Amino acid sequence: MPSVRPRLVAAVLATTVGLGSLTAVAPPATARASTPSPGGGSAGDPLFPSMGNSGYQVRHYAIRLAFAPRTGRIDAATSVFARTTHPLSSYSLDLQGLHVRSVRVDGHPARFERHGHKLVVTPRRPVRGRFTTSVAYAGRPTTHIDPDGSSEGWVPTDDGATVVSEPVGAMTWFPDNNTPRDKATFAVRVTAPSRLAVAGNGELVRRRSQAGRTTWTWRQGHRMATYLAMVSIGRYSVHHSTMRTTTGRRLPVWSFVDPRYGSQAAVRRLVPRAVRFLERRYGRYPFSSTGVVIDRVGVGYALETQNRPVFDGAPDAVTVVHELAHQWYGDSVTLTRWTDLWLHEGFATYSEDLWNAVHGGPSPARAFRERYDANPASSSLWSPAPARFSDPADMFGAPVYERGAMTLQVLRERIGTSDFFAVMRRWAAAHHEGHGTTAQLVALAERVSGQDLGPLFHDWLYVPARPSGY
Ligand code: ARG
Ligand code: ZN
Repeated sequence: MPSVRPRLVAAVLATTVGLGSLTAVAPPATARASTPSPGGGSAGDPLFPSMGNSGYQVRHYAIRLAFAPRTGRIDAATSVFARTTHPLSSYSLDLQGLHVRSVRVDGHPARFERHGHKLVVTPRRPVRGRFTTSVAYAGRPTTHIDPDGSSEGWVPTDDGATVVSEPVGAMTWFPDNNTPRDKATFAVRVTAPSRLAVAGNGELVRRRSQAGRTTWTWRQGHRMATYLAMVSIGRYSVHHSTMRTTTGRRLPVWSFVDPRYGSQAAVRRLVPRAVRFLERRYGRYPFSSTGVVIDRVGVGYALETQNRPVFDGAPDAVTVVHELAHQWYGDSVTLTRWTDLWLHEGFATYSEDLWNAVHGGPSPARAFRERYDANPASSSLWSPAPARFSDPADMFGAPVYERGAMTLQVLRERIGTSDFFAVMRRWAAAHHEGHGTTAQLVALAERVSGQDLGPLFHDWLYVPARPSGY
């Protein structure tokens, strides 16, 4: 990847949003630690150079919003609890659309400007260390259109709204540092008419009704990427139960099912089974509750929103397994750059193969063979390479999902089943609630197996051609 381009874009962007250049000449080291300067307007991902911000890291988001179904409007306030990485004279957040009424920093009114999806905040005094930005805003959220043409972010439905934000839609409903590199805990409080229910991530900690409106408070105590933050408001049957994990841990299960799909009893029964199936292979379930949201969203895909994946319509078993597998690979262990997305999608697709193998389908080896043989060298499965592409429209394509899964099968055949699952488990455990890169995975697989695996991963992940000899 050329390293010049993202930096250049970031610098240009920083200038256009009035943050000054990211690459400005550094002041002497002593001055640098204490002289406030503007934060930057990029997290540095080449696929999304204008997303995310620098100069701070978020610890916690507290989001409050009231939803009016008739107009589709929200009236919201989000507090972003963050810590500076250097003293900041100004900084930015990501927020697409909506009307910002006010911004306060540590309780004091602050100046703000909007430039595209950047909300640039200039506090009365520079901030250093911990600081809190509180943004009051309102309006009808926009739905974000992806590079691949699909809809994401805040999506209106016929009875409410649902949020599915991979990769960048989170900024359509709350101001954030919109990069998977900056994970934080969340508290989300939504008020809606009492005939509607509100799903969220984490655990439901309170539900209060007053004058025909109900406020639902969800708490996510495990660090979460912004794209996984979800609320889903609508007419639902709400199912609350508990399940036992393989280690005997009691896990609350909250599921929200649009009644037009019936009660989805089979899917709800599948959830604990699939969680245990995955635990036996990957180790302990990484979070404190589970469940599903099944609704008519209209986006045409499911999303692994943390704890509680969202399904667009009644899902089949492998799709449930896929989204639950993401809880380990994607949600708990999260990429640091979007070209590493195979670390999420290849792993989740491989999990489908594992499930199929014990439910009457082909073995993973056979699934590999079928994909390999059915796709001649000219097939779009082989190009672009899974972990080397420059067009974000390629993120959710067959190379990332299927060739990603094939890469794991090749690894398994090379190092053996026992070492392979040791790698899978150690990957989940060592990077729990954190991040991982492809280079770190390769290093781990090499440590576990004692083999040089560089060429294998190179051929399978970085070369836009069908690897030969399989
Ligand atoms: N991560 C989701 C899944 O495979 C897919 C998200 C697709 N998003 C999109 N914007 N096309 O489980
Ligand atoms: Zn997936």
